[in-house]
Amino acid sequence: MKFFIDTANLNDIKEANDLGILDGVTTNPSLMAKENITGKENIIKHYKEICHIVHGPVSAEVIATDYKGIISEGEKLADLHDNIVVKVPMIPEGIKAIRYFSDHNIKTNCTLIFSAGQALLAAKAGATYVSPFIGRLDDISADGVGLIAQIRRIYNNYDYDTQILAASVRHPMHIIDCAEIGADVMTGPLKAIMQLAKHPLTDSGLEQFLADYAKGNK
Ligand code: G3P
Repeated sequence: MKFFIDTANLNDIKEANDLGILDGVTTNPSLMAKENITGKENIIKHYKEICHIVHGPVSAEVIATDYKGIISEGEKLADLHDNIVVKVPMIPEGIKAIRYFSDHNIKTNCTLIFSAGQALLAAKAGATYVSPFIGRLDDISADGVGLIAQIRRIYNNYDYDTQILAASVRHPMHIIDCAEIGADVMTGPLKAIMQLAKHPLTDSGLEQFLADYAKGNK
């Protein structure tokens, strides 16, 4: 499973990248705002900086919601760097735009997916990635991980090339569940990724090894 980090924070991106396990980055307008990145020029500069740090797909979201606007914005974003993936919302105009981008070899990430039907439409339109938001489904007492399993079965039935990018990941169990199901990618915050490394028996075992070494090597 590929690991993407879901942030616009350059320090978190660098830290995950330095671990040597990072495959890509996803951003959205809220994550940009959280880092106080505002204004078209600053946003574009920020995407370029991210592409400079990570040598893998970087999702950049369009703001336009009409077909022509999505195409024009998406083409400009795609021109910024070979690794840019144009993030398009799951709305009818977005589906049409994804078909256009797919026909013009521009990679897309169809975002704000909350149902299997939406994921099916995105795959039929030729999306490179589909982003089901599992944490936000859990937040309303729905089954986020269950949706990933359902989409996996549907895509397997028809050999769709669209990659399932489990998004809105909140904690390490989300990552593990998605890996068991066979999600192609997960995107989550640095904290959830780092928590995968933690185990109390690892900490106590290491402490013991170091204490025993110290006793014999005074
Ligand atoms: O990639 C989608 C993600 O950014 C949404 O996450 O935590 O805002 O639900 P969250």
